[in-house]
Amino acid sequence: MKERILVTGGTGYIGSHTVVELQNAGYEVVIIDNLSNSNADVVDNIEKVSGIRPAFEKLDCLDYAGLDAMFEKYKGIKAIIHFAASKAVGESVQKPLMYYRNNLGSLINLLELMPKHGVEGIVFSSSCTVYGQPDPENLPVTEKAPIKKAESPYGNTKQINEEIIQDTVASGAPINAILLRYFNPIGAHPTALLGELPNGVPQNLIPYLTQTAIGIREKLTVFGDDYSTPDGSCIRDFINVVDLAKAHVVAIDRILNKKQKAKVEVFNVGTGRGLSVLELIHAFEASTGVKLNYQIGPRRAGDIEQVWADPTLANTELGWKAETSIEDTLRSAWNWQLKLRERGIQ
Ligand code: UD1
Repeated sequence: MKERILVTGGTGYIGSHTVVELQNAGYEVVIIDNLSNSNADVVDNIEKVSGIRPAFEKLDCLDYAGLDAMFEKYKGIKAIIHFAASKAVGESVQKPLMYYRNNLGSLINLLELMPKHGVEGIVFSSSCTVYGQPDPENLPVTEKAPIKKAESPYGNTKQINEEIIQDTVASGAPINAILLRYFNPIGAHPTALLGELPNGVPQNLIPYLTQTAIGIREKLTVFGDDYSTPDGSCIRDFINVVDLAKAHVVAIDRILNKKQKAKVEVFNVGTGRGLSVLELIHAFEASTGVKLNYQIGPRRAGDIEQVWADPTLANTELGWKAETSIEDTLRSAWNWQLKLRERGIQ
């Protein structure tokens, strides 16, 4: 058994897939999650997939004393992967203080407690949202592209959290960090035991699409076909969630094996391929054989027209590369939706 790793938000969508990949790589995992956007039975499904039951504590990262006690209980945690955060862009505009309190406070608590408990490293779940709409000459976007003013309080919490980590490390704190900027994570585990479980009406494209395909929603609306892109719809870099999970394992290996070239490193985690919303819909239909009811609607406020990653740095430095085809990824999302129906969940 390798080192003990703390995964905050480990019962969530990306967190649960990452726990499995850490276990597959031999790490011992402790999950904390306040279950605000996930269920404790995800722990059972993690065990079904990996054959190992991770330790689990229902705990909010805003609970400083609770975190302190958790580090005492699970002595020897070597590194943290910090997913736990509120992540709905629209909600963050309505409730900015909730987003700032939750997303900033959680990270600050962890950073304060790391030195006390001998935790060496943290992998932070950041987002391509920090680039805003990159200028045309900066597409595909590299880590060197300028950070743009955030479009939402949610996006701002990602930017500020990156700065909090940079400032803390610069102050001499004995902490090493890797900031992973995700593009658009989609898909589910190939076993269909883990996946994305949105609360209420989904805001993100893929859960809305699969819920439409299965008949929970009547129609998917494509938000705008008058953008300056080849087919007029927005372009994103859709990254398979298991591939994304594996990037975290590589980042943890790198921190613990002291392979970092700087105490804070930043990597884009994307495929390098931009796909439009309409292309994605057609790829879903082609790879699953399911016809999708969709219509073109108006643009959604705050949407970025086009962004996709230059993942060269992650490819060369981390030795990580997105591997799963978009067809397999979309089939996995569909199988997950079918499985949810079978389980009577949605
Ligand atoms: C946004 C954030 C991202 C964040 C994610 C979490 C930005 C630039 N990106 O991603 O940082 O992690 O939310 O929620 O702020 N679409 C439709 N119809 C739908 C739903 C979506 O056409 O019903 C389109 C959107 O207009 C967009 C694309 O699908 O062009 C992807 O949307 P979505 O899945 O919501 O992700 P982002 O907005 O890219």
